[in-house]
Amino acid sequence: MRRLLSVTDQTLEPDREWSLDELADAYAYPDGISDSGTPWLRANMVSSLDGAAHHDGRSQPLSCTADMRIFGALRGLADAVVVGAETVRLEGYRPARAREAFAERRAAAGQGPAPVIAVVSASLRLDFSLPLFTEPLVPTLVLTGAAAPAERVAMARDAGVDVVIAGEGPGVEPAKAAAALAGRGLTRLLTEGGPRLLGQFVASGTLDELCLTVSPTMTAGDAQRIAGGPGVAVPEQFALTAVLEEAGFLFTRYRRI
Ligand SMILES: NC(=O)c1ccc[n+]([C@@H]2O[C@H](COP(=O)([O-])OP(=O)(O)OC[C@H]3O[C@@H](n4cnc5c(N)ncnc54)[C@H](OP(=O)(O)O)[C@@H]3O)[C@@H](O)[C@H]2O)c1
Repeated sequence: MRRLLSVTDQTLEPDREWSLDELADAYAYPDGISDSGTPWLRANMVSSLDGAAHHDGRSQPLSCTADMRIFGALRGLADAVVVGAETVRLEGYRPARAREAFAERRAAAGQGPAPVIAVVSASLRLDFSLPLFTEPLVPTLVLTGAAAPAERVAMARDAGVDVVIAGEGPGVEPAKAAAALAGRGLTRLLTEGGPRLLGQFVASGTLDELCLTVSPTMTAGDAQRIAGGPGVAVPEQFALTAVLEEAGFLFTRYRRI
């Protein structure tokens, strides 16, 4: 055992705001991911000390400015952001922005100006007139299963949405979703949840990395944990690769062993 840090240790590096460039360097995807054609799926989630993934249906009350900077940096590095339809509905998802801070880095990495948002939905009960679908810099994708409601698929396609089939039944098979995105050259994947979707990525062994913000808050109540759904037979093992701290928030990073 070892003490990683004592917050009163005066020899620690001074507390300062990291630039977006520093954050992007710190959170870079493993080398060679885009050349390999093999997807790397990282999740970015925030949890209260008592395990809540949201408060009153939103993750914002658990977050902080530094968390949002990391959220932005992770998007700035990603080819695609994979997100469950309920998070899109509850959090009011908008198109990803092109940010000056990442422009050069993205161009050098052969990436478009902003990550593709890939919404996972079986029902396609989504409002296709929202800016997420009508005004993105890069077209938003909807990932669904082959048996998804045909009229909703047609409605999405009529609205110009690119519907990607990644499963035999009504729903998406998590590994197929990652493979379908990789097949489009989108290998640096970021999932922003929510818990029901993340649980499936965990259970299918598709999650490579977890960027978990531990928020110094407690909520009690019965909010979901960061990963839900049926449990795995044997716990997936992860190794700690980094910890940053600001204002009592821990920004941890774990890689599947
Ligand atoms: N703490 C965090 O970091 C964090 C991150 C994200 C979200 N959240 C919170 O989590 C809550 C929402 O999360 P959630 O777990 O309820 O929902 P979710 O995972 O965001 O979305 C669930 C929906 O995604 C679709 N879906 C999931 N798996 C699918 C599959 N295999 N195939 C096809 N579609 C699939 C379904 O959409 P359809 O119903 O359209 O079929 C399902 O209803 C919100 O309160 C949000 O604030 C917290």
